[in-house]
Amino acid sequence: MNILLMGPPGAGKGTQAEKIVEEYGIPHISTGDMFRAAIKAGTELGLEAKSYMDKGALVPDEVTIGIVRERLALADCEKGFLLDGFPRTVAQAEALEQILSDLTKSIDYVINIQVDHDILMSRLTGRRICKSCGATYHLVFNPPANEGVCDRCGGDLYQRADDNEETVGNRLAVYTNQTQPLLDFYQEKGYLKNINGQQDISDVYSDIDSLIGSL
Ligand code: AP5
Repeated sequence: MNILLMGPPGAGKGTQAEKIVEEYGIPHISTGDMFRAAIKAGTELGLEAKSYMDKGALVPDEVTIGIVRERLALADCEKGFLLDGFPRTVAQAEALEQILSDLTKSIDYVINIQVDHDILMSRLTGRRICKSCGATYHLVFNPPANEGVCDRCGGDLYQRADDNEETVGNRLAVYTNQTQPLLDFYQEKGYLKNINGQQDISDVYSDIDSLIGSL
């Protein structure tokens, strides 16, 4: 099962991805997570990615396509994968077609989580993430039982560097200009399935689960 998870920043892709990979046992491939891991490790890739992410801009296509090509070739993708946050440009989508063709794979579903843009700012500025296990919370919509502490592993919660108002504004504009056009690209190919992301987290997941089960 090869799935692309799409939607604007803050739509709930990471939140739903955690549940999908747990249920279906496929690897979660998030380009954003891969860049954040490289930043934490202090690698050359991390240094380059940081300079774009801090501004809310996209990391250049050639860098991003290269890391996805390497990741999709790993053995754990044999049984399927969930791509989250890639592709984000038409060039990335075209490169993905070539990568999958080289690996004799194809896309099964493109799941697009729809949320109005006026809701996304508060979702992102209120987001908190566990430093240890990566679980995602929200100060209002999905708070941890104890402030600042992860329910799952007891780790400390932090705010992502790009979750401030100014950078979120840039990320939303980049999404509208560069990523939203991809929805037409996948609609024309017949892969696109829209999900209402303005429901409780568990209801969004239930819709995704039914969709996957019905296809
Ligand atoms: P990335 O890490 O991919 O971030 P994003 O796409 O901006 O998406 P987010 O992770 O911010 O949001 P999400 O949809 O996962 O929402 P979440 O589930 O956390 O990319 C970051 C940067 O990396 C980019 O700006 C770019 O620089 C670079 N990059 C990454 N991929 C790239 C690529 N392919 N090419 C070039 N550059 C790339 O939810 C958000 C909040 O809402 C949470 O607090 C959550 O608890 C809450 N929430 C979730 N669902 C609900 C709900 N149903 N109701 C209420 N609250 C909810």
